[in-house]
Amino acid sequence: MNRLASILSILALFLPFTNAALKIASALGVIEWTPEKLAKEDFYNGTVSIVNGGVPSLFSDSSVDLASNAETQALRNYASHKNLRIIYTVSEVAYRIVADKRKIKSLADLKGKHIGSVQGTSSGYFVQKMMESAGISTSQYTSVSGSQCLSEPCGDGTFPNMLAHGKADAIGFWEPTVELAARAIGSDNAIFFQNFTVYREIFNLHTTAEKLADKSKRAEIVAFLRALEKTLAVFRDQPDKVYARAAAALSPPMSTEIMKAVWPVHKWTGTVPEDLESVLSVEDSYVAKVDNRQPQSAATLKGMVDRSVLEEARAGM
Ligand SMILES: *[C@@H]1O[C@H](CO)[C@@H](O)[C@H](O)[C@H]1NC(C)=O
Ligand SMILES: *[C@@H]1O[C@H](CO)[C@@H](O)[C@H](O)[C@H]1NC(C)=O
Repeated sequence: MNRLASILSILALFLPFTNAALKIASALGVIEWTPEKLAKEDFYNGTVSIVNGGVPSLFSDSSVDLASNAETQALRNYASHKNLRIIYTVSEVAYRIVADKRKIKSLADLKGKHIGSVQGTSSGYFVQKMMESAGISTSQYTSVSGSQCLSEPCGDGTFPNMLAHGKADAIGFWEPTVELAARAIGSDNAIFFQNFTVYREIFNLHTTAEKLADKSKRAEIVAFLRALEKTLAVFRDQPDKVYARAAAALSPPMSTEIMKAVWPVHKWTGTVPEDLESVLSVEDSYVAKVDNRQPQSAATLKGMVDRSVLEEARAGM
């Protein structure tokens, strides 16, 4: 071996590290993805690219290593991709239903009314669970679809606009759409319904069994979880440091003031909740119905959750 070749072969030993780059797919218009950006900028020494997408990206683009979404999309994709793994919970969010308190005093008052949500997503499931908790079945209210709004003015077809113009009597969605819906009718007129026990979004980071089986890829993923752990500690304990950056990270960007207003709705847990498997097993019957398939068994769904990556990340901190 000549000198150049031996230098190259020594360099090759380090290639898994020097070349290493993580690719993450996330919905860049939701608040829950923002810790990924700050983790990349503040605490992760490797290279990370973050692209718009979500769990389906793991299966449409093999260069995607990690993807974030709520539990609904995980259930949908696991049905046809048993190699999907949930490895970390970034945020738990007790979604809110907002209505005009001059007309609606309780969830029970929403019987027979039009409720804005998006079926087949965490929003539709959330509304169904909340109404069920008040003894109202899906046949006793009308779901109306609309779109989210990240900053005022919220135009035609967005949920805040629909609430303001009587096209919906309530909105059940993620933030800041609900906050902006309240502002659209005048915050003083708004009543909110929220119950962490009945429903909270569990916003997770996912990968595949194959990525985890690849030693150097797994090491990168573990290192990124460590960076996320540090980021979420800041999100929890020193939010003043990150409101503005998290707001600016959204696409399109949100105002810092709105971000501050909806911050308390989000719990930046950074864990894998103990009840995740049981939540998934109950929720799968909703997703199965929307997707016109059989529900997956609790035993099958258990295979989607892998706590070992977080254990490994924490062991090295
Ligand atoms: C990242 O690099 C800095 C500077 O070299 C170092 O101090 C720090 O410990 C590294 N962090 C991690 C998580 O490896
Ligand atoms: C939330 O829902 C649970 C279960 O239905 C109920 O026991 C609890 O009282 C509710 N909490 C609030 C604040 O309404």
